[in-house]
Amino acid sequence: MDKPASVDHPILPLIQNRWSPVAFDPEPLSRETVLSLFEAARWAASCFNEQPWRYVVGAKGHDDGVWQGVLDTLVPANQAWAQHAPLLCLGVARQTFTRNDKPNRHAGYDVGQATTTLVLQAASMGLVAHQMAGFDPAAARERFAIPEGFEPMAVTAVGRPGSGEALDEKTRSRDEGPRGRRPLGELLVGEAWGTPPGLLA
Ligand SMILES: Cc1cc2nc3c(=O)[nH]c(=O)nc-3n(C[C@H](O)[C@H](O)[C@H](O)COP(=O)(O)O)c2cc1C
Repeated sequence: MDKPASVDHPILPLIQNRWSPVAFDPEPLSRETVLSLFEAARWAASCFNEQPWRYVVGAKGHDDGVWQGVLDTLVPANQAWAQHAPLLCLGVARQTFTRNDKPNRHAGYDVGQATTTLVLQAASMGLVAHQMAGFDPAAARERFAIPEGFEPMAVTAVGRPGSGEALDEKTRSRDEGPRGRRPLGELLVGEAWGTPPGLLA
């Protein structure tokens, strides 16, 4: 199913067409495909080029035990559909800079950037991706021996678009809902907080 964004101004088709479905084709992804996704993430920008992102990679058909382990950490509402996604990866943020052990206030920001880069790479390859905050970070920490100083941030499901026929009706119907965004006037700031920039006049 396609669900292009209804844009007010022209944007890259790749960005316009990316969305977060619940319907996935369970067919495993090739090793080359999975590695291209993480290669894209690797080349994201980051504060001081720290590259604070780490990923626990659960790739069905490659590391089935890891895939199951990531699935087990998800809340039931996410498990309902993510159980059909062949790639489940957990993004983790290193909380301090390697260079001086000082707190990295932008670690989560940078993991988000890397994951967005991964998601756009996936979209460019005809894949779909869906990020999730609905997982148990403590369970993930224990299952994958994630040390202190590293924070589990979000799980991302990736795969080919699916029919959704394996999903229950309520879950499947989520893909039929509208996509919405706040207007630019609510997001952009001009002279002072709460006032829009002149270019929106
Ligand atoms: C950090 C983050 C956490 C999210 N957590 C969940 C989640 O737990 N379950 C879910 O179904 N979707 C989750 N989403 C997906 C968002 O709901 C979705 O991106 C948003 O509704 C916009 O839809 P779109 O991606 O199709 O444009 C999450 C997205 C992000 C970026």
